Formats: sequence, structure tokens, C-alpha cells
Amino acid sequence: MCGIVGYIGHREAYPILIKGLKRLEYRGYDSAGVALIGEDRQLNVYKAKGKVSDLEAFVSQKDVSGNVGIAHTRWATHGEPCAANAHPHYSSSQRLALIHNGIIENYAVLKEKLQAKGYTFRSSTDTEVLVQLIEYIQTVDNIDLLTAVQLALREVIGAYAIAVMDRDNPDEIVAARKSSPLVVGIGQDEFFLASDATPIVEYTDKVVYLEDEEIAVIRRGAPLKVVNLNNVECPHEIKTVSMNLGQLEKGGYPHFMLKEIFEQPDCIYDCMRGRINVEGTNVVLSAVIDYKERLLAANRFIIVACGTSWHAALIGKHLIESFCRIPVVVEYASEFRYQDPVIGSNDVVIAISQSGETADTLAAVELAKSRGAFIYGICNAIGSSIPRATHTGSYIHVGPEIGVASTKAFTGQVTVLTMLALTLAREKRTIDDAFYLSVVQELEQIPEKMKEVLKQNDRIAELSKIFTYAHNFIYLGRGYSYPVALEGALKLKEISYIHAEGYPAAEMKHGPIALVDAEMPVVVIATQNGLYEKVLSNIQEIKARKGRVIALVNKGDTVISRLADTCIELPETLECLEPLIATVPLQLMAYHIAVCKGMDVDQPRNLAKSVTVE
Ligand code: F6R
Repeated sequence: MCGIVGYIGHREAYPILIKGLKRLEYRGYDSAGVALIGEDRQLNVYKAKGKVSDLEAFVSQKDVSGNVGIAHTRWATHGEPCAANAHPHYSSSQRLALIHNGIIENYAVLKEKLQAKGYTFRSSTDTEVLVQLIEYIQTVDNIDLLTAVQLALREVIGAYAIAVMDRDNPDEIVAARKSSPLVVGIGQDEFFLASDATPIVEYTDKVVYLEDEEIAVIRRGAPLKVVNLNNVECPHEIKTVSMNLGQLEKGGYPHFMLKEIFEQPDCIYDCMRGRINVEGTNVVLSAVIDYKERLLAANRFIIVACGTSWHAALIGKHLIESFCRIPVVVEYASEFRYQDPVIGSNDVVIAISQSGETADTLAAVELAKSRGAFIYGICNAIGSSIPRATHTGSYIHVGPEIGVASTKAFTGQVTVLTMLALTLAREKRTIDDAFYLSVVQELEQIPEKMKEVLKQNDRIAELSKIFTYAHNFIYLGRGYSYPVALEGALKLKEISYIHAEGYPAAEMKHGPIALVDAEMPVVVIATQNGLYEKVLSNIQEIKARKGRVIALVNKGDTVISRLADTCIELPETLECLEPLIATVPLQLMAYHIAVCKGMDVDQPRNLAKSVTVE
């Protein structure tokens, strides 16, 4: 969702801000803007609907000088995507400019109050209310920007990461956060601001992650100051981030999504590195060992997540229940947080999130924590809000995921869940040594087996062409493959805009089979596991109704290959590890169908990578 960038220092701000916005494009947005205090000490604000490149075209003849500025990509919440609603927003006198990520929930009340005092508004956003409120307080009380921001934020209900500039005080930017991420980068006589570290790492590896209700004052020639809304100084830790710039580029691939699909074998190695011993006989997730008493004493586990991470959670449930014999409940974070869940100190909540910033997942974590549950995070973005809010956890270590459609994060999450289930099961003695060893050894083989699947990319690209006509798709799987079916359907719908549904294969007969006709492609995960015969019957039922079956089968399967219209062959693996293999061709198929349809694969319409509002 909205992306924030800021700069103050000795360099020209505009190129840094634009490059930063491009780094944040992956978050999803529909308009962009920039504010700079130029050499003439004017506060210039430029905004455009569309891409950052549209903004660049718009400002090509304008004054973009200055070494202090803020910039923003907006994902519309209040008010349609258009230049007027894009950020930065000026205050009435055009003395202040402000950018905001989040939602001001009580904006209507504040707006009425300001309108009664004669304020008029140029946009239909909640954000403009905030900048007007800050200016109103600043003017009436004749106080400095920081104090005005503190007083204004005390009146605000909602979520925010903001940055404000004052034309009359061009050596300072004031930035604040509550429930939306904000990072300060500390360079040599310069500061950076951003929603995550990706726009900053090119210039400095020293960052401070702001906590809720903290305000950062970045001032030319002064050290970073962090205070709270009551102006009490907040101690802040300077962290070192390590991010390879190559991870933020496409590296020769046409899209980030394809690059990230192909990165998966390496990502799974990275995810397992240091966690599986060199002999390949033992898995240790240190967080599980450190907190084993707490984890083993749990009555049940509750996994909270959204979207693709929720699909990984379903696989996690299967793994933990069958390996550890601990009951697991999987909840959508957005439902869990509002259903007054029965939860207490004997529960363990696992929060899964690639970005570590998903507002609903973060709120679910806070709620569970407030009721005494022990919280374990499985996240990708290092230093993001969810890992900081949990008691412990494991990073998936798959590197920055830029494509909006999650790919390598999913397989990374499933890998960590597998290692978690194995580590706990060994402690609990719920699986025998032979099975444990077979899973560990096979897990180590997964990257090579993924590579075998990736070799079929050209073939999958070819067969995808056939299906660009389709308006609907059904995905079917059973057992461990059911969440894979859900994930395949989600990938297809979010990037190709083809309606797709995933079902447990046997559920077909209870309704969805009515949809099957000669026009309906049905993707079936039909690998040779315990449910093979059952899935075979499901395929026969589809064929009897002339559905077009695309089957994922194990190499050498001659039975299903005679029945299905198309087969994609997968290397054999243990049933519990099949999701790691079977997901890959479905990612590729969704990708190629979307490309054939000419869709914007990396930034699909209406979607945001990091869903920081509920
Ligand atoms: C789908 C996708 C989303 C995310 C969801 C949760 O491809 O990316 O469904 O999985 O928004 O995001 P995280 O994992 O960052 O909490």
C-alpha cells in the first residue's frame, strides 16, 4: 500500500525520492507525488495519477531543485485515484506539505470542525484533514511544527505513517508512525525516510525502525531525535540492514514475479541454511528450542494470516497436527481479531506474514498477546512490525519479494512450517526416527526437485496460451494439495483477472460440479499419494461432463495421462512435501496466462503488496 520516501541532506533530493518511489512500486499504488523545498525556498508540490513514470513526465519542465523533500505513492482508500487526491497534500496556506500511509478514522469529525473554522478542502482524502489540522494548531498556538504534529496526532484515531515539511523551516522533516511502517535511514550528514528499507539501502545500512506513536525529527546538522506524543525522548536502536541491491532488480527477467519463481530453489536453501546440520540428519529451529517448554505445554496452536500466507497456514496445520499431534486452528487474521476469540495463556499463536506489516495480522497478534497467548512469528521482512511484536519466531530468509503476487514467500513459509513441525515432533517424540530422517533428507532434496519443475517453464508457457480464452478456472486438490489448489487459484485470479476457485476435490460433487462444461478448465493436483485413487475418480467425474483437465501428476503416471487433456509431470517426493513442488507449475501457469493476456503482472490492478490498512 502507500509508499513513503523522504530525504534531507546535501544531495539533490528529487532523484533520490523518485528512485525510492520506484523501489516501493511493488507495494501497489494508483498515483504518486513529490514535495520539495527549492532553492527559492518555495514549497513545490507535484502530483500525477498513474505510475511514477507519469509523475516524472509531469515534472519534466518544472523546478525540482532542493535537498529536502518528501514523496509518496498512494493506494486509494478515501477518494478516487486522481491527482487532487494524490499526496503530498498542502495545508491551506501552502506552508506545510504532508504524506500519509494509513487511515484517519475520525477524519469526518475533524473535517467538520475545521470547516466550521473556515477551512476549505481541495481533495476528498482523510489525509488533507490532518495537514490542515496541523496548520490550524500551529497557527492558533504559534508553536513549532513538532509540537503541532504532537497535538494534532493526539486528536487522531486511526493508523498513520506521516512525514511533514514546513516551508518556513526548510531544515527539518517531522515524521511519525502508528500501526503503519516507517524507517529512518541515517547517513553521513543526511537522513532518509521510507516505508521499508528498500529505498534506503543504496545510501546507508544504518536504520531506525520507529515504534508506534513515536515521532522522528530529522534535522540538517543535528542527530536524529525520537520523541513520543508527550514529547518524552524515546531511546532508539540503530540497526544494520543487509540487503543486496541485486535483490531489488529484475536481473534480466521480464518481471519480478518470474525472477522470484525461479529464485525458489536458492531461497529454500537459504531458508534451511544453518537449520539443517551438514549431515542432513537433524533440523533445529532455534526459536523452537529456546521456547520448547512453552510450545509443548500449549493446549492448541492458532495460526493467523491473510491471503497466500493463510494458505501456507493450512499446510502448517496439516504438518503440525500429523507430526506433533497438537490441535491447530487456522484463522483469517481479519476475522479472528473481531470475533472476540476464546484464547488464553495456554495457547500459542503463530502469525505468518511475508511483509510483517499486514494490519489485520498485526492486530490479531496484539489481541492474542493482550490475552496472554504466546506469539510465534513467521515472517520475511526483517525488522518489520510483526516480528517486533511477537515473543519469538523464525524468518523465512527468502530475500525481498517485489512481485505483488507472493511466490517464494509461500514456499519459504511452508519450509519453515515443516522445520517447525519436525523440531517440535522430535522434542515431543511423536514421530519415529526413521520418518523424521526421511522428511529431513527429502526436504534437502526439494531445491533440486524444484529445478526439475522449472525446466518445464517453456512447455508451461506454451500450454498457458491455450487457456487465455477461459473466464473461469477450477483448481482441485486433496489433503496437503488442497491449500495448493487454493493458492493456484489465487495466483491466477490476482494477476490474470480470470475468476478461479480452489476446492477440496471431493467437494466438487456438493455444488461446483454444476459449473463444469467443455469450456471449463479444471486443474487437478493428482500426484501418487494416499488419495490418488480418490482423485482419479474425481477426474473421471469431470471428464464425464466434458471439463478440460490439466493434471499435475508424478513422472511416469500413465493412468491419469490417458484421461487428462494435459499433464504436467512432477518429481516424486513425500506427500507432506508435495506442496513445495506442486505450487511451482501453478505459479508459472498463472504467470504465463497473465503475460499472454497482456496484464501488468508485477503490479496487478487494485492490489497492494503490503496491506497496511484493514
Ligand atoms: C497473494 C498475496 C496476498 C498476501 C496477503 C498477506 O499473492 O500476496 O494474498 O499473501 O496480503 O500478506 P503478508 O504475507 O505480507 O501478511
